[in-house]
Amino acid sequence: MSELLRVFQRCGIEPGDVQGGSLAVRSPIDGAELARVHETSPSQLHEIIATAQAAFAQWRNVPAPVRGELVRLWGEELRQAKKDIGYIVSIEVGKIIEEGLGEVQEGVDICEFALGQSRQLCGRTIVSERPGHRIMEQYHPLGPVAIITAFNFPSAVFAWNAALALVCGDPVIFKPSEKAPLSGLATFKALERAIARFGDRAPRGLAQIVTGKAPLAQSLVESPAIPLVSATGSTRMGRAVGPAVASRFGKRILELGGNNAMVVTPAADLDMALRAILFSAVGTAGQRCTSLRRLIVHRSVKDALLQKLLKAYSTLRIGNPLMPGTLVGPLIDEGAYTALQESIATAKQQGGKVLTGGGRALEKEFPKGFYVHPAIVEMPEQTAIVRHETFAPLLYVLTYDDFDDAIAIHNDVPQGLSSCIFSNDMREVETFISASGSDCGMANVNIGPSGAEIGGAFGGEKETGGDRESGSDAWKQYMRRTTNTINFSKELPLAQGITFA
Ligand code: UN1
Repeated sequence: MSELLRVFQRCGIEPGDVQGGSLAVRSPIDGAELARVHETSPSQLHEIIATAQAAFAQWRNVPAPVRGELVRLWGEELRQAKKDIGYIVSIEVGKIIEEGLGEVQEGVDICEFALGQSRQLCGRTIVSERPGHRIMEQYHPLGPVAIITAFNFPSAVFAWNAALALVCGDPVIFKPSEKAPLSGLATFKALERAIARFGDRAPRGLAQIVTGKAPLAQSLVESPAIPLVSATGSTRMGRAVGPAVASRFGKRILELGGNNAMVVTPAADLDMALRAILFSAVGTAGQRCTSLRRLIVHRSVKDALLQKLLKAYSTLRIGNPLMPGTLVGPLIDEGAYTALQESIATAKQQGGKVLTGGGRALEKEFPKGFYVHPAIVEMPEQTAIVRHETFAPLLYVLTYDDFDDAIAIHNDVPQGLSSCIFSNDMREVETFISASGSDCGMANVNIGPSGAEIGGAFGGEKETGGDRESGSDAWKQYMRRTTNTINFSKELPLAQGITFA
């Protein structure tokens, strides 16, 4: 039996789950077919949605801290399966093993976060203008939540959403990316084991998975039985999902494209900046929503920084992500490679100078794997191509002289996910994170734009979608708020001083 089949088996993935289906899953490492997954039919989906609705009627009445016990068990299962799921992530989307493991760790972390949150689903008590009255808020379960994820975080993003949805009292229907259903399936199986251990307090259909392509996602998006759709992917996808959910007055959490930048000022610690640039620009082969795409550097430190950066890029180990020591794995597929080539060609037409990389790597060894040398392209200004997100290791360098210009350049893109500044000047730093600084959902200081912890709210502004998930108070989106006015007096005074007699 191959290593992968053994890993599948340990993860609870049966041969029937990964054989004989119409959806071929290929490894970006060498293009080999890993599995053939079955696509969920429209009638199966219909049944799944109905089951989720029935599950909701029960699950919403299970006390939240008891629901928390389920995600505690899921966290345990993820901990135990961390190595195996991390391996599947690596083989299926080409992340280096360290990052595959890190992704499962995010799942463990969010389960622990959600467990604590399960005892803190609290609203406020508000004073009333009327004597003998009190106003309070409660958060109640919302209903089935559809979780539609992208290939680049095939395990963690499901966990972020599902752990919170489950403690909030909502059943989940998970649609992993058609490019990465196996990592999703392995993460889902860990949840199924947790549900089995949790016993019959969990209704049938509390967590369900569907596999298939865009039309399947569209049916979820359009279903009025699903009050919340959480979707991660491109801005193009979000433009379809957002209006469709809005047209039926559903709620949505959209996590779309980013065009994340780092401002490096003369007061920066350049060695620290260098390390942050490397991880965020070439980590995950530039395929995180939070990947660093624009370096906005002060003219006085540009040469010194670029010299260090080019030296570091020249020693990057590109290769099989399963091998220890590799830092850059393959792109997800040929389409990603072509998009990179097109962006580089356009950048050149717009005055860009390729300082390093961009070309294909390891073509002989892996003719069907799309490895690239991470690229750095210096631009004379922020042209149209720089304002466009290319999901690949392509870093644009822009130069500034005046700090206000750096911020203006920084914000002059349609996306608004993550951002950062490297500086030890408190005026620059505080300005960057102030109301007149970065307009992104995340603005970091002396740390790169990627690799966020689960404790903070994750998400961005503008074309990134405007929503938040994961930590902080993101849980509120998975619940409905009810405002209760309680009269404990013997009178019936009306608000606004109205007499009605
Ligand atoms: C994503 O790329 O969709 O902040 C999520 C990060 C990770 C999550 C990225 N924790 O880079």
